[in-house]
This record gives sequence, structure tokens and C-alpha cells, in this order.
Amino acid sequence: MAKPLLAGNWKMHGTAKTAAKLAADLANSSGDYPELIVFPPYVCIPAVVTELLAAKNIAIGAQNISHHSEGAYTGEISGKMLTDIGCSHVLVGHSERRTNCSESNELVAEKFAAAKRSGLVPILCVGETFEQRQQGQELQVIKSQLDAVVDLVGLETVCDAIVAYEPVWAVGTGETATPEQAQQVHSFIRAELGSGGTDTQILYGGSINADNAAALFAQPDLDGGLVGGASLEAEHFINIAQQIVEQK
Ligand code: PGA
Repeated sequence: MAKPLLAGNWKMHGTAKTAAKLAADLANSSGDYPELIVFPPYVCIPAVVTELLAAKNIAIGAQNISHHSEGAYTGEISGKMLTDIGCSHVLVGHSERRTNCSESNELVAEKFAAAKRSGLVPILCVGETFEQRQQGQELQVIKSQLDAVVDLVGLETVCDAIVAYEPVWAVGTGETATPEQAQQVHSFIRAELGSGGTDTQILYGGSINADNAAALFAQPDLDGGLVGGASLEAEHFINIAQQIVEQK
């Protein structure tokens, strides 16, 4: 069984000061919640690291990574730089980067490999667009997104990472996949990972909030969530985290 997990993607919100406050609020939250990972904007990471030094069970990740290890790549951030400032995880293949930054399946695979080279745990995001779902292509699209990474690093390495299913039409839109739609894709991903994927954490993401969390996490192959909007307030995020514990 995969261990429950909740990740919060803070995207391009806030400042170092508000990020530190959010991290402090999370660190001070009481109650029973699973492993948490927060993904602040790059420049806010040091402030968050400072706040979370004493917090057990809250890891810090970055929202992006260069596929290069080092060199003349203006504006890029390497995996080594991320581990150096205290990151343990990194998002790769988020739909906003696939769409807005034209990241191809092959580039996402390179970023995944770069994360592994630096000792970071990648969260590989996959998901179909609305049009692709309308045409019944969702599983095919997700398979090709997974296969690009498997072809480069091998199945075992993907099983050692974290996968997030985020239907593009549900990210930041207020629309969520139904629990049944999510479960269908999660069990497909689990089957694609094979026997090595039994313990792989497969997260759902796309407009999760305190009202829809319980029904989603009641599904057997949803091991946790990747939350955007609702991760920007500690109270909402912890509420969702507690619902995961209740369902698992
Ligand atoms: P959302 O974002 O929860 O705001 O839809 C999810 C994500 O981008 O990971």
C-alpha cells in the first residue's frame, strides 16, 4: 500500500514574507495528517526552509528544474542548487509548464532524469486535455506521457518516484474529475507501473477542496493529492490532509 501524501503547489503566489507565514501556520497546525510537501516559488524556498526546520513530516520541493546539470543556461535552476537549499522533491511535467512553456514529453523525461541525478524525488504530472477526454483518448495520452519517462529512465525508477494525475481541464478551473473518473485513470497508471508500482504514490490533482476531498480520497488508488488554490491557506490545506487520513 502506498503511503498517503498531500502536496501543495503554491505556483506564482505570494512573497517570501507570506510564504514564511504560510509555512509557519502549517508547522503550527495540530492534528493528524499525512506526509506533506510544499512547493513554494523558487525565491521563497529559503524562507520556507527556515520556518520548517523543526517541522516533522513537511518536506519542501521546487516547481521546476533544469534538465541540464550546470552551465551557461541563463535563468535556469539545477537540481544541485535545489538540494543545496533544502529541497527534497520537484514537480516535473505540470500541465501549466507543458502548455505555457511548451514542455514536450521528451523534455519532461529529461527533467525527471535530472531530478534523479541530483537525489530529488520527482513528482511526474500527467493528464489529458478536455478535447482529448471528449475523444476518449485520456488513457492513450497518459500512457504516452508515462512511456516517454519510462523509456529514458526505466520502469523501476518511475515506480520509485511519485505520479500525479492532473486532468488539464480540472487544474485551476473549479471543475474536478468525478471520483470514478479519477479512480479509473489511477488504476490504469497503477497497472502500467506493474508489480513495482504497488507502493508508488499516485496523487490526484485538479480543483481539490475541502468539500470534494473525502469522496476522491475514498477511492482505492488515490493515495493523496496535489493541491493548488486550496494550498494557499494553511487551514484549508490541513483540512484536506486530515480527510486523506480519515479515508485511508
Ligand atoms: P488547483 O491546482 O488545485 O488550483 O486546481 C492543482 C495543481 O496545479 O497542481
